[in-house]
Amino acid sequence: MSKEIARRDFLKAAAAGAAGFVAAGALGGVTAFAEEGKETGLPFDGKKKFAGIGSCRMVTDDIVYIGVSDRRIQLFENVYPIPRGVAYNSYVILDEKTVLVDTVDRSVTGQFFENLTAVLDGRDLDYLIVNHMEPDHSSAISEVLVRYPNAKVVCTLTASLILNQFFACDISDRSILVGEGDTLNIGRHTLAFVMAPMVHWPEVMMTYDTVSGALFSADAFGSFGALNGNLFADEVDFEKDWLPDARRYYCNIVGKYGKQVQDVLAKAGTVDIRILCPTHGPVWRENLGWIIEKYSLWSSYTPEEEAVMVVYGSVYGGTESAANSLAAQISQNGVADVAVYDVSKTHVSELIGEAFRCSHIVLASITYNMGIFTPMKNFLLDLEAHNLQNRCFALVENGSWSPASGKLMKEIIDRLQGCSVVGETVTIMSSPDSGDADALKALADAVTASVQNGGEPAAEPETAETKKWVCKICGYVYEGDEVPEDYTCPICGAGPTAFEEA
Ligand code: FEO
Repeated sequence: MSKEIARRDFLKAAAAGAAGFVAAGALGGVTAFAEEGKETGLPFDGKKKFAGIGSCRMVTDDIVYIGVSDRRIQLFENVYPIPRGVAYNSYVILDEKTVLVDTVDRSVTGQFFENLTAVLDGRDLDYLIVNHMEPDHSSAISEVLVRYPNAKVVCTLTASLILNQFFACDISDRSILVGEGDTLNIGRHTLAFVMAPMVHWPEVMMTYDTVSGALFSADAFGSFGALNGNLFADEVDFEKDWLPDARRYYCNIVGKYGKQVQDVLAKAGTVDIRILCPTHGPVWRENLGWIIEKYSLWSSYTPEEEAVMVVYGSVYGGTESAANSLAAQISQNGVADVAVYDVSKTHVSELIGEAFRCSHIVLASITYNMGIFTPMKNFLLDLEAHNLQNRCFALVENGSWSPASGKLMKEIIDRLQGCSVVGETVTIMSSPDSGDADALKALADAVTASVQNGGEPAAEPETAETKKWVCKICGYVYEGDEVPEDYTCPICGAGPTAFEEA
């Protein structure tokens, strides 16, 4: 076979794989390529294409990190700015059987396959475990299946269905469907599967290695940010350099599903976890309790810090001036942690992360088209979408002839569980005057007192009488005395028998 024909066959097969087509023709292409490689040594003038260890790191003596960082990407999920990039984590367990745990986004498959090839070092791949089917972790699955036709896919039933939806990839003849507590022995290691629906999609599971204590935790304990050689959280200054992005990642990606995260944390508390291997960001092998505690706070919607964020929406500076005055007064009162944000200039994902951190949120908004300033309304609705709870708010409204934003902001806050408004809403007409100074000072004092008292009493907690029913398939929570006979889960379509009381 000439070099050019071999190259064409390879590209043809790879393209078929990337398109999610697992069929005899595509498999035949790769097989022919591989066999040709064996006969002639190596293609492409005999030069070794995959050298050294790629960009791999050893997690233990037989668990290898083969993930890849993307530093070109601008927007994660085409929504969230990630100036520090992002890592797509993938792992190989080398035992009597070889196991690949999750794959990567399509943007980094070149480096990924270089790593995988280097780590397997000529061995076949026996199993591919799919903990999470979202394409940032599954885009390479089709090509893995083409390259390793003997590999079995270990996943949940839901994952197999979504895989077929995204990539027209039917794995029914090579899948091992698993559920809660199922195990897979691969030699020295035994892997146990832990269902984690809605952390962050319904098909999610985690894989626990009973030998090393490694928990392959899918998106949980992940972070935005590319890895720069350093793999472990103890190799970086995580609190200083990573925590804001880890918080922003959690709150925006998984924040809505606090109940489901709490459920997984409860399960995690029953096993000896010694290593946390997420699908993004650093791996944890030390001080695991620190990051687990963060997750406990975030998922229970408990403020991480007694702190005040002041968010303003201003066009001509009057509202901004009031916000600055409030921040200065609150700080003068002795509150050390005060942060001010222009809602028009700060990406809403940053604001969501800060809202999960801070105990108190001051909102100052102009009235715009008889409503809330558009970016401020977007922020508030995003808070509601992410299920933020248990915060104290304070309000400033501005309007040159008919201020209305205060009342409208409060209407949204009233829909947030466990949230309250402290102090009297300050109303400004265009720009603050000396008459507004007293009102702003009074509001600053009310916020300060609330911070120093650990927050005002939260609004009425959810009544104990309200029963909750959790869908065993996807984790959706239905509230009511009982699940109606004709009910179908709005997420996965399951009937009432799939629900159990929480
Ligand atoms: Fe990193 Fe939910 O995918």
